[in-house]
Amino acid sequence: RRFHVAVVGATGAVGQTMLAILAERDFPVGKLSLLASERSAGQQVEFNGEKVTIQDLATFDPAGVEIALFSAGGGISKEYAPKFAAAGAVVIDNSSSFRYDDDVPLVVSEVNPEAAKNRPRGIIANPNCSTMQLMPVLAPIHREYGIERVNVATYQSVSGAGQSGMEELGKQTAQLLGFQEIEPKKFPVQIAFNLIPHIDEFLDNGFTKEEMKLVWETRKILGDDSIQVNPTAVRVPVFYGHSEAVNIETKKKISADQARELLAAAPGVKVVDERRAGGYPTPVTHASGTDPVYVGRIREDISHPRGLNLWVVADNIRKGAALNAVQVAELVASGG
Ligand code: A2P
Repeated sequence: RRFHVAVVGATGAVGQTMLAILAERDFPVGKLSLLASERSAGQQVEFNGEKVTIQDLATFDPAGVEIALFSAGGGISKEYAPKFAAAGAVVIDNSSSFRYDDDVPLVVSEVNPEAAKNRPRGIIANPNCSTMQLMPVLAPIHREYGIERVNVATYQSVSGAGQSGMEELGKQTAQLLGFQEIEPKKFPVQIAFNLIPHIDEFLDNGFTKEEMKLVWETRKILGDDSIQVNPTAVRVPVFYGHSEAVNIETKKKISADQARELLAAAPGVKVVDERRAGGYPTPVTHASGTDPVYVGRIREDISHPRGLNLWVVADNIRKGAALNAVQVAELVASGG
């Protein structure tokens, strides 16, 4: 059976990749409705060799849509996801608008696929990119060794800020190499040749919302509110691929060899961990344009008897967003 699929935000960085992945994985698309703002309405996009016209979301009638993939920002999801769900669609939403609602499941396809079945509002949330890539790595360790605490510093690429984030890095880089002045727009300060320890808004506790997503989402996905998470989220001048320096403390000691063996068998994870130059994953050499979550630099913490260090890299647009959304759509399509 084939499904009427809608992609909301079809012209964006994530939306475009959703289309590529639907085609790549041969998702059973019957009818395809592509939606964006009125700015893009009328443009044509190729899907499986056929031209599809972008429609204006504001005037689109969702009746008949069965699966809707949303990635057009939180405001759009808040307004339109309930309308699509009311019209009978299962909405898979990439924004943070519904992630923390108790009656909306938050699903990483390899980690908690069964959660996708219980969706009373017809909405399934896709986790934030930095939490997403951490889950296939932490879940098997948590199951066998019990994770008490996670210290994580992220190195997040500009594609996480959408098409305009990538344009800003490209433009600033060219301008600075040409000895021109730059004017930050998308990011609060210069991103080219710089690092910015600020993603999303500041909250009352001094953390950014991007950091707190790691706390809230890790607990919800692993189903354990006792896990302590201490995050720092940093934007870096990389186009595709988020990296994370991760330190975990477990209840039961896990050695580096045990972690390597466990992770080698974990679905969606690829261990790249040779102690030589280039024997570790990086965004450019491994992650960009690929599906797995890569883990390397696995070593025991020299400052804590039950501590372990990991370096985790993935394509934030693929596993971090579009790929997982399509994997969740596959769960829905197969009756999950
Ligand atoms: P558009 O290209 O018409 O602006 P990105 O994350 O790469 O910035 O992409 C955001 C996506 O969300 C784009 O597809 C964009 O469409 C879409 N979008 C933004 N605002 C709206 C809106 N008001 N209605 C529908 N889609 C929107």
